[in-house]
Amino acid sequence: MWKVVMFMIIFICGLLKPVSCETIELKCDEIKVLSYYERYYGNKCTITNITADSSASFIIRTSNSFEYNKIIQDVEISGGSQFYDIPREVFSTFQFTKKFTANNIGIEEISKYNFNYAANLLELRLRSNKIKKLPNSCFSNAPLLETIDLCSNEISEIEKNAFAGMEKLQYLTLSDNKIVKLDENVFRDLKNLISIRLDSNKLQVIEGKLFASAASSLTEIRIDSNEIAMIADNDGDAFARLQKLKLLNLGNNRMQQINIADTNIERLWIAQNNLKELKLNKNLKLLYAPINEINKIDFNGNTELLEIKLRQNQINDFTNFSSSLSKIEVLDISYNPITTLKVSSFARMPELVRLNLEYTNISKESLTFGTFTHNANLSQLDLSYNRLGHIDFNIFTTLTQLSLLNVDGNNLTQIPYEQMRQYFPKLSLIGISDNDWNCTYLAGMIKQLKQNNVIIRVIAKTRIFNETNVDGIRCVANNRQNHVEWNDPIEHIDDNELQYLAANKPQNPQKVVTQAGGINEVWNKMLTLELKIMSLNENFQDFKQQMARQETLRFQPEQQMQTDNRDSIVQSEVSFIKVILCVMCLIMMCFTLITIGKSVRSYMAEHRIYFPSKNVSFRRSTATIQTTMEDVM
Ligand SMILES: *[C@@H]1O[C@H](CO)[C@@H](O)[C@H](O)[C@H]1NC(C)=O
Ligand SMILES: *[C@@H]1O[C@H](CO)[C@@H](O)[C@H](O)[C@H]1NC(C)=O
Ligand SMILES: *[C@@H]1O[C@H](CO)[C@@H](O)[C@H](O)[C@H]1NC(C)=O
Ligand SMILES: *[C@@H]1O[C@H](CO)[C@@H](O)[C@H](O)[C@H]1NC(C)=O
Ligand SMILES: *[C@@H]1O[C@H](CO)[C@@H](O)[C@H](O)[C@H]1NC(C)=O
Ligand SMILES: *[C@@H]1O[C@H](CO)[C@@H](O)[C@H](O)[C@H]1NC(C)=O
Ligand SMILES: *[C@@H]1O[C@H](CO)[C@@H](O)[C@H](O)[C@H]1NC(C)=O
Repeated sequence: MWKVVMFMIIFICGLLKPVSCETIELKCDEIKVLSYYERYYGNKCTITNITADSSASFIIRTSNSFEYNKIIQDVEISGGSQFYDIPREVFSTFQFTKKFTANNIGIEEISKYNFNYAANLLELRLRSNKIKKLPNSCFSNAPLLETIDLCSNEISEIEKNAFAGMEKLQYLTLSDNKIVKLDENVFRDLKNLISIRLDSNKLQVIEGKLFASAASSLTEIRIDSNEIAMIADNDGDAFARLQKLKLLNLGNNRMQQINIADTNIERLWIAQNNLKELKLNKNLKLLYAPINEINKIDFNGNTELLEIKLRQNQINDFTNFSSSLSKIEVLDISYNPITTLKVSSFARMPELVRLNLEYTNISKESLTFGTFTHNANLSQLDLSYNRLGHIDFNIFTTLTQLSLLNVDGNNLTQIPYEQMRQYFPKLSLIGISDNDWNCTYLAGMIKQLKQNNVIIRVIAKTRIFNETNVDGIRCVANNRQNHVEWNDPIEHIDDNELQYLAANKPQNPQKVVTQAGGINEVWNKMLTLELKIMSLNENFQDFKQQMARQETLRFQPEQQMQTDNRDSIVQSEVSFIKVILCVMCLIMMCFTLITIGKSVRSYMAEHRIYFPSKNVSFRRSTATIQTTMEDVM
């Protein structure tokens, strides 16, 4: 009998332990007062170094008055912790939490129960966790959410109604997951979405109606670095419907065509696709389309373009550019087989500041008196790796603002280096590698340029060690064969350049864009930088909005009342399974007690031990028992 009871007790405790017997204390290891300039007022609670599996239940301790908990607006569970899911006790303890961050703590599952008490939550950041699936309605208990960031998880499935009821959502980030497919109605409720990021997933098709319900709010879509080959779109107007859309990033996909002619997009990123033709829209300001096969561009009457980057395409007809781009400031058409330019090619681009014509197969006939006459603001000109052979510097007479000139790789034997300062009063950087310089001549040139404070740019890749050279620039010593073919053109302007500028401190230091490595790497870098700038800008806009909203929401008495009332509800909440188990536990305990009681009674009866009667004093009863015990002995 005893053995059975013991066994059952052990067995039941074993059953109960992982479910409800383990309690973990979550305490704010740090409570920081949020400054006025941070996103939310109040305090931030940081919880560190806690490990909890799916079954753990939590006690949260702060300095622990309810009044105190109210001022926590921002909770972060930091890396170093390990959680299976979001402990909803965070939200029941800190009911005013507006921002919850739990990056890189191993969260595997997310469901609406995690947000049972998250009615005030505005911002949720769960980066670098292991979430695999977004089930239906998973955020519906946090209906005020404006920002959801699930970047770098393992999400491969998003159920059809995952975002049900999220009408306040403005910023959704699902970058760097494993999403293969999106139901065309999955974003149906997101009527106020401003920005969506789906970059670095495995999407293959974008349904034309996917973003349709956010047509009056959506301003940014980023779906770069997927495997998208097409926008499934019957009427061809997937993006035209989105009248607020200003930024579209479709880079690094498999698109063969894209229809944006009727959109209001201002910034378009379509680098690294298989595009052959483009028809632009009228509002476009920035076109970023390197590494495609584009050979036809219909500018569609656009006069707004400020920047065009078309490195590594197939453009050989420059006519449409010549006539359309009256505001253009940055034009990069390097690595295109342009071959011929006309006198008028840049004549209608008076604002041009940077012009990159590297490796465009142009010969000296393409550059003539008049080519740059109307480009007085040109500051960077790259003519490297062409077939110029000889350059008459008098055609540059108008370029008084020029600070960077690249003429590498042009089979040059001489340039008027002694007059360089007359031609270009602001020149600070020049590239002259890979030409056919006579060594004596080159040495003289380098000396003179240095005296004039012009830095000669020699990037690591073209620096010469094992042939005759001056300062790493190849030259031909007397009596040697003159021309040496170079094989590959180099990528221009690398990271060293800024160091050069810093180290050499020219008289007129100019900002220079940095590049490095292979073409892809260069463009990826530039893209990253540009995205960074945009996201900074976005954060700033965000911040401004927040500030405005906080001004209006500050100490709103109504809202506090409402949340106070919720306290009792919170306290009474016990999950169903726990109730069942507790009842079972009680029954088992009763059963055990009864059994023990019975055994004791029968033992006592057997050995004639009796409880003292109620009237008998304590001392006497002890004595009685002692005597009876002695009797037994
Ligand atoms: C978390 O744990 C690590 C290693 O156990 C320790 O180095 C670190 O100081 C702990 N951090 C805090 C805030 O307790
Ligand atoms: C130039 O633009 C026209 C439409 O304006 C277009 O039909 C043509 O294909 C374009 N040509 C090139 C070479 O881009
Ligand atoms: C470069 O120009 C030359 C001379 O016009 C021409 O023969 C050659 O095909 C061009 N190369 C390319 C790649 O367009
Ligand atoms: C050159 O730039 C300056 C300001 O940077 C501007 O005021 C001027 O109009 C520009 N010149 C031309 C010809 O566009
Ligand atoms: C470079 O110039 C030499 C003569 O100085 C000429 O023989 C050679 O063909 C030229 N090479 C190129 C690529 O133009
Ligand atoms: C110089 O070195 C480079 C790489 O180190 C090599 O490709 C090239 O052939 C060498 N040139 C001579 C003339 O030895
Ligand atoms: C190289 O240039 C120097 C000075 O300009 C000149 O004296 C010399 O004759 C040139 N050598 C050859 C082989 O052209």
